[in-house]
Amino acid sequence: MAAVASAIPPSIPAHVPKSLVFDFDHFTAPETKSEPHRRVSQLLHKNAPDVFYTPRNGGYWIVTRAEVAVDMLRQVESFSSSPQFNHFKAFNPPMLPVQADPPEHTEYRRILNPKFAPGPVGKLEVYVRQLARTIIDDVYPRGRCDFIEEVAERFPVTIFLKIAGAPLSDRARLVSIAVKYTRSPTFEERQEAISDMAAYLREKFRERANAPKDDLLTQIVQARIPDRELTETEKEGLGVLLFFGGLDTVKSVLSFVVSYLAQHPEDYKQLVDNPALIKSAMEELMRVSGVSTPERGVTHDLEYRGISFKKGDRIVFLTQLWGVDDQQIPNPYQVDFSREVSQHYSFGAGPHRCIGSHLARLEVRVFLEEWTKTVKQFSVENHVPVKTAGGVVWTPVVLPLTWPVAN
Ligand code: HEM
Repeated sequence: MAAVASAIPPSIPAHVPKSLVFDFDHFTAPETKSEPHRRVSQLLHKNAPDVFYTPRNGGYWIVTRAEVAVDMLRQVESFSSSPQFNHFKAFNPPMLPVQADPPEHTEYRRILNPKFAPGPVGKLEVYVRQLARTIIDDVYPRGRCDFIEEVAERFPVTIFLKIAGAPLSDRARLVSIAVKYTRSPTFEERQEAISDMAAYLREKFRERANAPKDDLLTQIVQARIPDRELTETEKEGLGVLLFFGGLDTVKSVLSFVVSYLAQHPEDYKQLVDNPALIKSAMEELMRVSGVSTPERGVTHDLEYRGISFKKGDRIVFLTQLWGVDDQQIPNPYQVDFSREVSQHYSFGAGPHRCIGSHLARLEVRVFLEEWTKTVKQFSVENHVPVKTAGGVVWTPVVLPLTWPVAN
């Protein structure tokens, strides 16, 4: 066990035994800088306890195994989403619905369902496909692109801004606020990003209160739970999380998926030759492309699987490792489009399971359908290793692609 006995700072709480301490920072660990799913899982699944305590960033528990994580995420009475039990997440405004427990959580989710349920999301397919075509037709003739900047930051972000009702001219500003939130390890920097996003939303909510439109911003302004209006803080909290979800996560997952296909031409050829495979292949690719790190706080002193937790302990779940957990999936790093992976947990588990999953799936599927129609083979430019970053949401940071252009 490569525990950090000599480096353990005195801030390790007394109830945490040394055998459960392992030095790992999910923002900065070298293993997060390239091939993070394989490298971090090899590090942690082989060397660390399934639930361990890291002294980094103020100290927190990390859960690496899918079965344990899913079980804990379902026990909301013990492992709460409320910032009351996780001081690192005491943001202003609290992000909703992700920082609320049932029954309030259920009410907040009810507000968002009309825009994110499969029916309304399905109606976006024509628009999503047109946008994918426009972006692909734009980059294709050049035979190369910087995928993150020219595609991943345009495609899902443009779709989300349309749903939200925010102008496209605000894209760069909003993306940079979302990136600051997801990649900054300190509470202060993440709070700054949240405050910037909340200030942006306050202005938009004022506009919508005066002139309602058929968009997500108006829906939040007019929302009620069940017999009262939302407070300004609640409106901002709902908006902040949705904007972070809509602006950063699909961008990251799509970039991981495309980066894998760029480096595995035989797998990509299967999709080009047989587009009917894309829907199921996408699930297999998402399995190895988890990006999010849900958090919970412990509500009361308790024993769980032989571990003593204290009220207020912070717990971080690495969804990135669940899909490559060898206790769940044989040969987990092998992407196999014929594998019967009916279920993966990249969208989380329990009551907070991602509300944007239908939208995310639509975006990734349609993008791959259109990309395979046009780009018959492609690779990472000069076959350089793809640089990635850890954080609240993990992501490739640069992805230069190249392909032969048909005359
Ligand atoms: C592939 C892309 C995405 C991934 C991998 C992802 C992942 C996740 C995960 C793991 C959770 C659970 C968080 C927790 O348990 O604390 C979550 C929740 C959430 N996601 Fe996503 N997400 C994605 C896309 C989106 C999109 C596009 C949106 C909105 C436009 C969105 C909005 C949300 C919201 C609002 C929640 C909170 C749900 C709740 O608390 O009930 N996500 N997401």
